[in-house]
Amino acid sequence: MSTYGSFPASRPRRLRTIPAMRRMVAEHRLHPAELILPAFVREGIAEPVPVSSMPGVVQHTRDTLRKAAVEAVEAGLGGIMLFGVPEHKDATGSGGTDPDGILQVAIRDVKAEVGDELIVMSDLCLDEFTDHGHCGVLDSEGRVDNDATLERYAEMARVQADAGVHVVGPSGMMDGQVGVVRAALDAAGHQDVSILAYTAKYSSAFYGPFREAVASSLSGDRKAYQQDPANARESLRELALDLAEGADMVMVKPALPYLDVLHRVAESVDVPVAAYQISGEYAMVEAAAANGWIDREAAILETLTGIKRAGANMILTYWATEVARRLR
Ligand code: PBG
Repeated sequence: MSTYGSFPASRPRRLRTIPAMRRMVAEHRLHPAELILPAFVREGIAEPVPVSSMPGVVQHTRDTLRKAAVEAVEAGLGGIMLFGVPEHKDATGSGGTDPDGILQVAIRDVKAEVGDELIVMSDLCLDEFTDHGHCGVLDSEGRVDNDATLERYAEMARVQADAGVHVVGPSGMMDGQVGVVRAALDAAGHQDVSILAYTAKYSSAFYGPFREAVASSLSGDRKAYQQDPANARESLRELALDLAEGADMVMVKPALPYLDVLHRVAESVDVPVAAYQISGEYAMVEAAAANGWIDREAAILETLTGIKRAGANMILTYWATEVARRLR
């Protein structure tokens, strides 16, 4: 009795006592419709090829990609983001603008399979298609030529939209890319195709496994066009430019090492904000879990919840279908 006064007056633990209470007071919850599955489709293969640095992820055949799209619909996903891996690469990435190139074929396949039940998105970048692995075409000194690359992106946007894509995702970090892509789409009568702008895209070590996934031959790095991890304010400048150029949605990438950037972007816009949980983020969790060092399922949900809490409306994650099934 005499010590009652020294007990805490406030007890936050009351709201953590049982699962039903924790569920009711949760500030954020994940939903399948906000998850987007990035998927790789490789030209000229008869069987899917596992990506060794991303256990559970494959380079799809045209056929298995269609199946993955159907599974995505069944799991209630919001969308699928397609990446093409062409059989032949060249200096200008001509496969990226060939109407019968693997990415365009894949867009048509997926649209034929799932129609408008899933938002079909495509990576709009040249690195999957160039033999030097850069996101654009090179000038005579071997640097990525911004404005010459924009011409290629305009063409890519047109062929991807002709193939039926709902959303294009310009990811090459060329200055002016959103404006050029918007103009190209509009000029071709594709006013309803949206742009998910890779607004803040950092030059990250965590893209490593993706390079295997798209069989990239990049030597060197992308530091002359992707952002420096040391900079956050710069993302707000990229954001203002992308919005002025016509971005419908904006994205921060990678996710986990850049939650502060994601938060700042989410606080300052009135368009939907996406985050891309990239290949290296996936690989880290899978590798630690395979060693028995972390609880795989719990870690996956924790990373996604953290990304949501930081302000993402949509999350691109290689776990999308698995997690969506678990959420149902
Ligand atoms: C560019 C692109 C990349 C990724 C998505 N789009 C590679 C890069 O910029 O180096 C990386 C995605 C991932 O690592 O999961 N086409």
